[in-house]
Amino acid sequence: MAREYDLKPAPSDAASAAEAGGSYVNRRQFLRYGFNTATGVLAASLGVLGFAAILLPPGGSTGGDLGVVFWAKGREDEAWYGAKHLQLMTKTDFVDEAAKSNTGTAGASGIWNGVPVVVTYVNHSQNKSTPESSGLARFQFMEGVDETGKTIGHFEDLSDQDPRIFPSEDLVMIFGRCTHLCCIPGWQLVSNSFTEDSWTPGGGDDGGTKLFCICHSSRFDPTALEMNTNRNRSNGATFNYAGIRKAGGPAPVGLPLIPIQLNGDVIEGITDYIDWYTYCD
Ligand code: FES
Repeated sequence: MAREYDLKPAPSDAASAAEAGGSYVNRRQFLRYGFNTATGVLAASLGVLGFAAILLPPGGSTGGDLGVVFWAKGREDEAWYGAKHLQLMTKTDFVDEAAKSNTGTAGASGIWNGVPVVVTYVNHSQNKSTPESSGLARFQFMEGVDETGKTIGHFEDLSDQDPRIFPSEDLVMIFGRCTHLCCIPGWQLVSNSFTEDSWTPGGGDDGGTKLFCICHSSRFDPTALEMNTNRNRSNGATFNYAGIRKAGGPAPVGLPLIPIQLNGDVIEGITDYIDWYTYCD
């Protein structure tokens, strides 16, 4: 059963500005919720190395080093993957769990290369041939917008350039830091209408299976894949990326994908797109 949280309202613009250094305040606040010892790991790592430095260089590792592990700290008794904490994620883990759901999906928090991620399985291969009204989730490929609402491009503009961006094996891995103030979103950490085991098409904010940032209630649809844009927090450079759609809340844009590959049954991340993950310190 999902844990109940006392959600915070989104801060005012002024409060956001005051907190902009900011993500630290929210990380500290977030520790109260018990999910994210990962955040402590991350903060400590980033303080010394900076984000990009803790990622392996492209092609700079052999298989197992790129594996993703489950992260269920503090939720060992309630998350479906609680007993798998710190074990390598496999596709079979997700397929088995998704088979128990109403929607054909399963999601889990994890750690990859020292950073928080959320891995989501969507039985797209099977469900895409069913009517959308069936409530069986499938990936949707969409135009994305910037924080002003201006259309910037389609997901397939990016996946055409690099097919590895396209969901592989019905799995997507999402960088787990909110584009609002860099808190770590969860998958069904919260029991409410945004995380119920239901699915609706369109990437809208009408409930259903969402990633939910407990800090100020931003919602993201892991089935709605789009092009998005953000900026490097250190140098201000803007970049476009393939990501999942922001469905609601104060987050300005969606969360980036981390392309994955399978090594046997083990889920591994691909390290070619580290600039996509630089909007937090
Ligand atoms: S950090 Fe504010 S909604 Fe996620």
